[in-house]
Amino acid sequence: MAEISRGAVIGSGVMGAGIAAHMANAGLSVVLLDIVPQGAADRSVLAKSAIERLGTVRPPALAEPEVAGLIRVGNLEDDLGLLADAQWVVEAVVENLAVKRDVISRIAAAAPDAAICSNTSTLSLSALTDGMPPDMAERVMITHFFNPPRQMRLVEVVGGPRTSPSRLEAVRDTVDRQLGKVAVECADTPGFIANRLGTYWMCLAVAEAIGQGISPAEADAVLGSPFGIPPTGVFGLLDLIGIDTVEKGCRSLLASLPKDDPFHGPGEIAAALFQDMAGRGLLGRKAKAGFTQTWPGSDGAPVRQDLDLQTLEYGEGAMVTARSLPGAGRDPLAMISAPDRLGRYAWSVMSGTLAYACGMVSQVTANPAHIDDAMTLGYGWRQGPFRLMDSIGSDVLKERYRTPPTLLQEVEGSFFEGRTVAIGGGKRLSLERGAGIILAEDLRHAGPPVIGGASASLWDMGDGIALFEIHRKMNTLDDEVGALLNDSLGIVGERFKALVIGSDAANFSAGADLAKTLGWIKAGDFMALERTLAAGQQAMLDIKYAPFPVVAALAGAALGGGCEIVLHCDAVQAHLECSIGLIERNVGILPGWGGIAQMLARYTKELEDPIKGGISAFELIAHAVTCSSAHQARRHLFLRSGDRVSMNRDRLLADAKELAMSMVPGYRAPERVGFAMGSPAQRIALAMAVSEFGQDKDTSSYDSVVADTLAWVLGGGERESGILDESDIHALERTALLRLARDERTQARMEHMLATGKSLRN
Ligand code: NAI
Repeated sequence: MAEISRGAVIGSGVMGAGIAAHMANAGLSVVLLDIVPQGAADRSVLAKSAIERLGTVRPPALAEPEVAGLIRVGNLEDDLGLLADAQWVVEAVVENLAVKRDVISRIAAAAPDAAICSNTSTLSLSALTDGMPPDMAERVMITHFFNPPRQMRLVEVVGGPRTSPSRLEAVRDTVDRQLGKVAVECADTPGFIANRLGTYWMCLAVAEAIGQGISPAEADAVLGSPFGIPPTGVFGLLDLIGIDTVEKGCRSLLASLPKDDPFHGPGEIAAALFQDMAGRGLLGRKAKAGFTQTWPGSDGAPVRQDLDLQTLEYGEGAMVTARSLPGAGRDPLAMISAPDRLGRYAWSVMSGTLAYACGMVSQVTANPAHIDDAMTLGYGWRQGPFRLMDSIGSDVLKERYRTPPTLLQEVEGSFFEGRTVAIGGGKRLSLERGAGIILAEDLRHAGPPVIGGASASLWDMGDGIALFEIHRKMNTLDDEVGALLNDSLGIVGERFKALVIGSDAANFSAGADLAKTLGWIKAGDFMALERTLAAGQQAMLDIKYAPFPVVAALAGAALGGGCEIVLHCDAVQAHLECSIGLIERNVGILPGWGGIAQMLARYTKELEDPIKGGISAFELIAHAVTCSSAHQARRHLFLRSGDRVSMNRDRLLADAKELAMSMVPGYRAPERVGFAMGSPAQRIALAMAVSEFGQDKDTSSYDSVVADTLAWVLGGGERESGILDESDIHALERTALLRLARDERTQARMEHMLATGKSLRN
């Protein structure tokens, strides 16, 4: 499908601004229009101030501030002409049918070729397009983004009988490949998937809690951890969303769902409570009062108070910890089987929710996996309702229900089996991955690795490309990873054409095993530390100078040693959402696996000047600069010009494989570089940089010591002025790191990091 390059968004509120920002993150040029406020001196003030807000929202909407430059702002009265060549326009204006219909027809006239998508959360496509001429209606669809649009991966895509199938497919493909979302197609039914089931689940939890005398704290504990649902549970989530907003969503579903839909019972009860609460200003977190509120107790420590659901008075509700629940709060079956009031509550809410999910199949989507995706990606559930039923066991559930839902009754075995899902009537739907998606998980299911151990495995990705997958907690690097990498490089040289380093895990690699490093230091075993440094440096050189291309598939954190692996690969396929940096300073040391040499080489080449290159590498490492997107990583030279970005995490490994394949013909390992170091001018410039760094208000006294040692490395140590090679700099890195490791302040930093996860600013 051809990529689109020109997008537009109408409405610059919370969602519109966020969607425009994410289109820009994907490299589209974007037009953002809003209404002209009455009497405004600047007629485009709304869209302009939305762009200003984008710079400050948390979590960040922009992958880097410069991305905002891709967004042109205007207003709906003067600037509709800017839409003339738009290929895709999303409307995110106020949730009002008449306003949306009017905006859509104006877009259609102004953008004659564009696909037009509404971001409505409650209106139906049929209502939006009712009475529209066919040539207009065929271009109109719904793409329902979740808030915040950059971070939330779910987008529900809705077409109708009048939508052009090719247009719908083009939009689905753009949402998937270019914006990196999981595009879940669903029918034009109220609330689509996630909000329909999510709101039902929340309303049922409220109605049952009222009926059974369960407090919000009890409900949140019972419905959270045991079912893999975020710790906010239900009442915490309602407070987070806002009671007024939830009431609106609930009433909209009550108004649009057929009278025999099971939503009505709990929906009416919950809506009445929400209305009562909203009338008293109990709007949730934004009002600092909702189902819970936090007061400073008599000793100053915060005390959680729960709303009594009968009297609407606050009181200190009984606290329940997940661990005190049946199955230590981790076992859904134990929770629903508990013979006490909490067990009964859990069963009543979850049995109703799971039954409702079964009822949605065929009505809202033909594919139960879509409902699971919607709940995991839209509501943060660890597993959706169908995988949850599989975890509990469909046979157990069939026995527990007085009347099991029809779909459950018809399932033999589990919903998910192999690459299929049960859809009732003895039928199964194939769940083959789409083209362009490779997951390490699939390679694991397909057969044994080429070689493997507890820490890492080498897989055959096909087409002569191998995958080196690290599979440790946070993918930290231990001796076994090093040994397997070493063996893998040998095997790839003999049997494959190229290597990808990556995995399905959230993080590429959090670097060396800090606990182990500290253990050697504490034991005074500096020989072991030096051996590991030298072995790591050799491994990095083996990656860099291998006679075949090596591509890093970068996603999540690549910090310290993890970053150094990325820096030694020939190319990087990076997910937009990555976090990369040489952050060794935070634990009182310096990069010791060639990271200093690589950044020095990159900045020297970029700035065509060894002195300026050295200063830039100094700034980056002394400040422990961490980039939080691929775009930022490119700006700081963690990525280079040939490196590519994948927007969709699921496509990362396949994209990396394709990049590796493209590099195979005529591949030659990089030439070895020399570093001009040790000149008096360079040392003076570095000394000035250290002094300036020391004056920075954020610099601690030990930061200055680390920075001084870094400058010593970058100035060539005590070497005579001349050309050094990579192994010379590696020797300086080792000396510097060992020197710092002997300092008690380094040990204090490491201990603090291990104990708290935070850096000690000593
Ligand atoms: P918002 O209130 O932040 O923004 C509404 C926008 O509509 C503003 O830019 C406003 O200037 C504009 N507007 C108001 N009257 C207008 C008119 N007569 N003509 C044209 N534009 C007008 O609202 P938000 O939250 O951004 O919602 C926008 C849409 O996105 C709604 O359809 C909503 O249901 C949907 N949505 C909202 C989500 C959320 O979490 N906030 C999530 C998913 C969808």
